[in-house]
Amino acid sequence: MSKYNFLKTFFLLLISLSSFSLSAQNYGVGKPLTNREIEGWNIDVRPDGQGLPKGSGSAVTGKPLYAQYCAACHGQNGEGKPSNQLVGGRGTLNTSKPVMTVGSYWPYATIVFDYINRAMPFHSPQSLKPDEVYGITAYLLYLNQIIPENEILDAKTLPKVVMPNRYGFVSDPRPDLHNYLCRDSCKP
Ligand code: HEC
Repeated sequence: MSKYNFLKTFFLLLISLSSFSLSAQNYGVGKPLTNREIEGWNIDVRPDGQGLPKGSGSAVTGKPLYAQYCAACHGQNGEGKPSNQLVGGRGTLNTSKPVMTVGSYWPYATIVFDYINRAMPFHSPQSLKPDEVYGITAYLLYLNQIIPENEILDAKTLPKVVMPNRYGFVSDPRPDLHNYLCRDSCKP
């Protein structure tokens, strides 16, 4: 064996040994998660409502909660300042000054719940109980004139709310992808 070939074989052996030892290695840290621990992270709510927790609320129960937890940043009536505007803007999306709010832009009511539930209030996310999130979601939908003040939202009724921009998102115009992308949600 030439010197070169010897070195090559040596290094190849070294590489295969080291990858073997890496894959077989147990680092000795971590432990399997319990179901309870996984549940704590698994809070996503999907557009079709999968993942919505038990509980309920209406704009009537949500109004005082919104005033307490949200109004300071989003305005008494969701008009915004200092943070995002949450109410209004309907009919502006196709103008030169689109105003994107929960009411004008967001395609699913369930996602409003999901976002508030996971990310708001900004300074203490995930501090609200499901009843409170249902109530605040209902209040925002009521302010946007999407549902009446006394409509009760829960895991069954929330997915049925049709948002004004429900059919405004176009992902891919190719007809062969239509069924795949839209499933049962896009307009025919
Ligand atoms: C301390 C200020 C503050 C408070 C209190 C607060 N928010 Fe927010 N909120 C923000 C900021 C900042 C953003 C933008 C976050 C980003 O873009 O990452 C935001 C974004 C949002 C959005 C997304 C807006 C959009 O169209 O992109 C919603 C909906 C929302 N907040 C709802 C609420 C609700 C409901 C409450 C009360 C439970 C609340 N927020 C409390 C600061 C706040």
